Amino acid sequence: MSDKVIIIKKNNGQISVLGPVEIQDENGTVLATKTRCNFCSCGKTQDPLFCDGSHNK
Ligand code: FES
Repeated sequence: MSDKVIIIKKNNGQISVLGPVEIQDENGTVLATKTRCNFCSCGKTQDPLFCDGSHNK
């Protein structure tokens, strides 16, 4: 596994992050620790921050 974090901006609105990554709120509280996650940039998600597949609707 690479030690780089790779971020892929996809044409469907997904932003895939290949980590490991730690997601924190503005106070530094850890919300999630993942090795891979998909963020939403299309604005249609019902799970703010994360892609829930709503970009396909
Ligand atoms: S990119 Fe927005 S729901 Fe998937």
